[in-house]
Order: sequence, then structure tokens, then C-alpha cells
Amino acid sequence: MDINCTPKELFVFDKIARAAATLGAPAYLIGGFVRDKLIDRQTKDADIVCVGDGIALAHKVAESLKPKPSVSYFKNFGTAQIKYEDWEIEFVGARKESYRAESRNPEVEPGTLADDQLRRDFTINAMAISLNAGDYGKLIDPFNGLSDLEAKIIRTPLDPLRTFSDDPLRMLRAIRFASQLGFTIAEPTLKAIAEDAPRIAIVSQERITDEINKIILSPKPSIGFDLLYKTGLLKIIFPQMVDLEGAEYIDGMGHKDNFYHTLQVLDNISRNTADLWLRWAAILHDIGKPATKKFENGHGWTFHGHEVVGGRMVPKIFTKLKLPLNDKMRFVRKLVEYHLRPISLTRENITDSAIRRLLFDAGDDIDALMTLCEADITSKNKQKVKRFLENFELVRQRLKAVEEKDQIRNWQPPVTGEMIMEKFGLPPGRTVGILKNAIREAILDGIIDNNYDAAYAFMMEKAAGLHLIPVK
Ligand code: CTP
Repeated sequence: MDINCTPKELFVFDKIARAAATLGAPAYLIGGFVRDKLIDRQTKDADIVCVGDGIALAHKVAESLKPKPSVSYFKNFGTAQIKYEDWEIEFVGARKESYRAESRNPEVEPGTLADDQLRRDFTINAMAISLNAGDYGKLIDPFNGLSDLEAKIIRTPLDPLRTFSDDPLRMLRAIRFASQLGFTIAEPTLKAIAEDAPRIAIVSQERITDEINKIILSPKPSIGFDLLYKTGLLKIIFPQMVDLEGAEYIDGMGHKDNFYHTLQVLDNISRNTADLWLRWAAILHDIGKPATKKFENGHGWTFHGHEVVGGRMVPKIFTKLKLPLNDKMRFVRKLVEYHLRPISLTRENITDSAIRRLLFDAGDDIDALMTLCEADITSKNKQKVKRFLENFELVRQRLKAVEEKDQIRNWQPPVTGEMIMEKFGLPPGRTVGILKNAIREAILDGIIDNNYDAAYAFMMEKAAGLHLIPVK
């Protein structure tokens, strides 16, 4: 074998080889599995291409592998899948195909291995490993994918315009692989992406968003976003992010380029979290800036309320990108809305109550919020960054100390709404809410201690002011 395989993989490939020989349909490992093995990257599913009927091969393999559930297949696409333990193996017959200009639906006809390799997206994804007697385990690499892999280059096997017009999603895939693997896109391939960018419009939003998420989850996502931006794709698929670009100057006063600032924040946060949604929060934290930007004489540039405006943009962007409109979206929105709060606590003379209030409002999201705010500290001035980070560390320590003392995270005031209703014979409603809030605020502000007796006494005092009479 020209690639290193585990015993389990070799066992399965042997079964495939035997089935292929029986059917007289030569089979090959192809695509991402081969690529990832060659660069020692964790492999996922394996793709098998055979010169013949892929579905028939999958059924033949299933006879000896006995997968559960059995083969699942899509007759229209000529593809079949077998699950073996935690592993998915996909079978397809080698084909020539072309796409009609206005749609992604392929017109397919059977082809040779060489035809099939030619219609694949990149040279590094077009390499095959033979599973056939005679040259079992041999790498078949007609477009020098191996040398591109070594030189870390993404290049199409055909004229890039042709490869991209076959499937415009490949423009995003090129950028996604560049970002995931830290590869460079060959100049003609990159030029073709810039030229063909508008054709991304025929690709479904789900597939586009899938690629965006993979870019976001790559080790240094700025690589991908910078390429999306420079090729013009970003303007089409995520224009709000492009609106962040540029730095304007009036009277010699400028502001930072919020696009590149955002990319830096995204890279910063990606060193500390692999959570997709926290990374999304980094992307969107300043998204309200273009809409709130003002030049104020004597002051310079301001972005008052950008966190609120940005928060409101989150559901709209999630809807457009077909991201989930659930607690993930609410988490991102909350972080965007709160992203300035920890920074405001780096000033001196911050009271315990300000710290308590942040703990209460952020709840379980406090650690994520702190991770975002720390990533948001960017400046060309290294001394400034150092000072800010040190102050920030102090806020972290204060949060920890106050949390240990008061346990405010997920806290409920010691006097509950039920107790208030019972005490004054009140139905659920506004008055109960007023009393409950007043108690909570008094504790958070440090006006009274966080215990039952203090809260009870405060409730009685407040209730008297509202002319409420205890019924028990
Ligand atoms: N492929 C292609 N054009 C596409 C999608 C896929 O040519 N638009 C080919 C490539 O040869 C690719 C293979 O199909 O390697 C398998 O596709 P897929 O599983 O989507 O990608 P992988 O390369 O395996 O990488 P990943 O799993 O990271 O997406």
C-alpha cells in the first residue's frame, strides 16, 4: 500500500477488492481519504470508485461484511453507502459528467477511472489507490496531486473555469481546503474563482453555509475569510461582513478597519475554543458598527450602541444563512450584545456589585463571554495589548472571587415570587414582579445582603411603600 492503513481498514479494503474481482469491476480508493492519509491527517469516510456499477459493488461487499443496517443507496445518483462500525464507505461507479449551466444537476454517463479523476475538483483530491490484483495498493496520480500536496497547493486538474462551472461550490471548497490545511491556491485557480464568483448563486444555501462553517472551524479561519473577501465571494454570500471593511479618516482621526480587526479576533478566539458558535460570536461581535458609525467633532469616530444593533442583526443573518434559529442563535446574540461589558470592568474602582451584575446577567455564558472579550483585545501597540490583558486578568480574578463569595451565577433571590404571593395574598402579576425585581436589584447592587432575612426585611419595607398588607 502506498498509504498507511489500520488493520480494520485493510480488512475492509480486502473485502472490497474480492467483491470487485468477482464482479469484474476494478475498484479504487479515491478522494479525501487518500489525500488525508498522505498527509497524516485524521481520515473520515472512504470513497470507492469502481469501473462498473457502484451500487452492485456495495451489495457484493455487504455479502461478506454484513453491515447493519445494510446498504443504503440512491439509484438516481448511482451511489451507495455501507456503514462499518463507526465508518462510512461510499461507492460510486466511475463516470463522466457535465452540469447544465443553470443547475447543479449532473448529466452522467459511465466512464473510466481516468475520466472520473478528470472530473474531480482538485489534483490533491483526484488521487486513487488501486484495490485490484496486479497493482493492489498502488497510487494512481495522473495530475501530480502528490507533488501539489507536498508543495501545499490547491489546483484544479482541468482548466479551473471548466472545473468550477461543473460545480461552483468548488470555489468555496478550494478556499475551505486552503484554510483547513494552510495551503495556497494556485494563481490561475484563484483568478478563476474571482472571475466565476457570481455563479455561487446557483448553489444551495445549506451547502454554502456548510463550507462557511468549515472555514470558521479551521485552525486559522482568517486565511479562508481573507480569500473569500479578495475573490469577491464574501460580498455575495455574506455582505454584512464586507460592510466592516475600510478605515475612514476625518481631520487626521481614523478608526480601525473593522473587517481585519474581526478576522484578528476570530483567529485569537480560535486559539482558545473549537466551539463553532463562540467563533460565530467573534465574527459578529462588531457587525453593528457600520450602521452606528458617526464622526463626532472633538471626539473622533464613535459606534454607540453597535452591540445592540449588532445583536438585532444576528437573527436576520442566521435566517439568511440558514443557521439554526435556536439556543445557539440566542447564545451568539447574547454574546454580541454583552461583548463590551467585561471590558468596561477593567477600569479602576469597580465595585463588587458591577461584577455581581455581570455574573448574574451572563449566567452560564460568562466563561464564553470572557473568552470573546479577551480575543477582542487587538492593537498594533504591543504595550497596550499587554496592559489590557493584565487588567483583564484582574477582572477574571474579581469574577472568581465574587462568584465564590456570592454564587451569583444561576442564582435565584432568597425570596421567591411564590413567597411574595402567599405573604400578601396576591395573584401572579405586575405587583409581584415589582417586588421580586426590587429584591433582586437590591442584592445585586449590594444594598442588602444576599440572604433570606435581609431579603425578607427589604420585601416588607418595599411592600409597605406600595400599601400592601400581609395576609399571614
Ligand atoms: N468532489 C468533487 N467536487 C465536489 C465535491 C467532491 O470533485 N464538489 C470529489 C473530490 O474528489 C473529493 C471527493 O469527491 O475528494 C469526496 O468529497 P467530500 O467527501 O465532499 O470531500 P473530501 O475531499 O472527502 O473532504 P471533506 O470530507 O473534508 O469534505
